Amino acid sequence: MKSISDFQLGFADAVNYQRRENKDLFNIIFVKNIFLDILCSPSTYFLIGEKGTGKTAYAVFLANNVFKENVSELKYIEETDYQKFVTLKQEKHLQLSDYTSIWKVIILLILSRSIKNEELVNSPFTKIFRIKALNQAIDDYYANAFSPEIIYALKFVEDSKVTAELIAKYLRLGGDKSLTTSFQESRFQVNLLYIQNQFENALADLKLKHNHLLFIDGIDIRPGLIPYQEYLDCIKGLASAVWSLNNDFLSQIKGSKGRFRAILLMRPDIFNSLGLHNSTNKIRDNSVYLDWRTNYPNHRNSQLFLLSDRLLASQQETELEVGSAWDYYFPWKSKSRKPNRDYDPPFIDFLRLSYSRPRDIITIIQLLQEEHKEKQSEPTLTFTEDLLSSSDFQTKYSEYLMGAIKDQLSFYYNISDYNIFLRFFSFLNGRIDFNYFQYNQTYMKLIKYIENNQIEMVCPPKRSPVLMLDWN
Ligand SMILES: Nc1ncnc2c1ncn2[C@@H]1O[C@H](COP(=O)(O)OP(=O)(O)O)[C@@H](O)[C@H]1O
Ligand SMILES: [Mg+2]
Repeated sequence: MKSISDFQLGFADAVNYQRRENKDLFNIIFVKNIFLDILCSPSTYFLIGEKGTGKTAYAVFLANNVFKENVSELKYIEETDYQKFVTLKQEKHLQLSDYTSIWKVIILLILSRSIKNEELVNSPFTKIFRIKALNQAIDDYYANAFSPEIIYALKFVEDSKVTAELIAKYLRLGGDKSLTTSFQESRFQVNLLYIQNQFENALADLKLKHNHLLFIDGIDIRPGLIPYQEYLDCIKGLASAVWSLNNDFLSQIKGSKGRFRAILLMRPDIFNSLGLHNSTNKIRDNSVYLDWRTNYPNHRNSQLFLLSDRLLASQQETELEVGSAWDYYFPWKSKSRKPNRDYDPPFIDFLRLSYSRPRDIITIIQLLQEEHKEKQSEPTLTFTEDLLSSSDFQTKYSEYLMGAIKDQLSFYYNISDYNIFLRFFSFLNGRIDFNYFQYNQTYMKLIKYIENNQIEMVCPPKRSPVLMLDWN
C-alpha cells in the first residue's frame, strides 16, 4: 500500500480534470454509477446538484471520453458572456423570449460544429448540403477561425443581419431553391428566427452514429458585477431554450441513431428560482439529481463510500476489494453516539463533518494529508484519529465550509451583504452553540446594528423568510 504522503488526491473542483495532464488520473478515480446511467438517458436535460456534488465531474468525464456512443462537449458561461447579454439587451431592447431565441441559436451553432466531417461521408448530398452550407457561412464569417465558445457564438447572433445573409448565400449555392427575403439590421428577432430555422433544418436531415451532447456549466456563481435580475433573466432564457430545444425539436428528429442533446448544470435552488413551468416534473423526469445522502445501516454500500474508497484504492499497485483501502488508511474506532453501538466506523465521522457531498469528503482527506505532511515527524502508513480532531484541521475545514457558503450565497447576495451576514456571529460573543431564543436575540442585535449604521439591505426575491421579515 502506498504511504499516505504519496498518493494523489486529485482536485476538489472537477474543472481541473479537463486539463490533459489530469485526464488519466480522473479516468482512474471516477466512479461510473447510476447518476451516469441516468445522464446518458435521452430524456435527461438537466444535471442538478448542490455545490460540490459532482455536476462538473460528470460533464468532464463525458467530455474527456467517448462513452456509450456519446460524444460530449462542455462549455462554461463566463462573466464576459453575461456582460455581452446585458449590452445586447440594452442595444436591441430585448425581452425574455429573445434571450431564449439567442440561447437556442448559440446551442444549435455549437452542436452543429461538434459534427466531424468523417461522420458525414456516407450520407447522400441532399442530407448534408445544409450543414455544409452553414459551416461555410460560419467559416466565412469568422475567417476560418471559429472557436466553439459561447462568446464567439454570441457574436454570430449579434451580427444577425450579416450572418443570416451569409447563411442564405451558402444555402443558395448549395442548391436551396427557396426564396429568401432580405435581412435588415432593425429586424433582429426575424433574422434570428431565420438562422434558428436553418440550423434546425440542417440538423434534422442528418443521420448520425454517435450522440452529440453539449453540457453548459458555470451558472452556480453569479459574477459580482452582474446584477441579480439581469443574471436571472439570462439563465431563465437559457433554461427555457434548453428545455424547448430538447423537448420540442432535438428529441423529435426521426431516423437518426445518434441524437443531439443540450444539458444544463445547475444547483437545485437556482433551478427553482427560474420558475420553469412544471419544474417538479422536470426534476423527476428530465434531470439527474445528484443526491449522495446515506444513513447509518447503509453507509458502507453508499455511493459516497464507494467514491471515497475508490479514491484511495485506485492508485495502488494491486486490485483491492471494495472497502479494504478505506479500512487500511482509516483504522480507528470512534466513540459511538448511540447506546446500542459499541463504536462507530471512521466513515461516520466523515459523514458527520460533511454535507454528504463528494467535495467535502475529498477535501477532508486532502486536508488530513496536508496536516500529516506538515506535522508528522515520523512517517506513518495510515491516518490517525487525532489528526481529524486536531484544531488545525478543524480550522482549515471550517474555512473551506465558509468559502462554500460564501459561493452559495453569492448567487443572491453581494459581498457587502455577505459581510453583514458574518456580523451575526460576532454578536454571539464567542458562543459556538445556541438555542432558538438566543438565535432570535442575536438576530435582533444584528438588525439594530444595521439600523444604527444605516446600511441599506437589498433583498433579492423571496429566498429566506426570516431575513425578509424585518428588512421589508
Ligand atoms: N462519480 C464521481 N467519481 C469520482 N469523483 C467524483 C464523482 N462525482 C464527483 N466527484 C468529485 O467530487 C468533487 C466535486 O465535484 P464537482 O463536479 O467539482 O462539483 P460541482 O460541479 O457540483 O460543484 C470533485 O473532486 C469531483 O472529482
Ligand atoms: Mg462545478
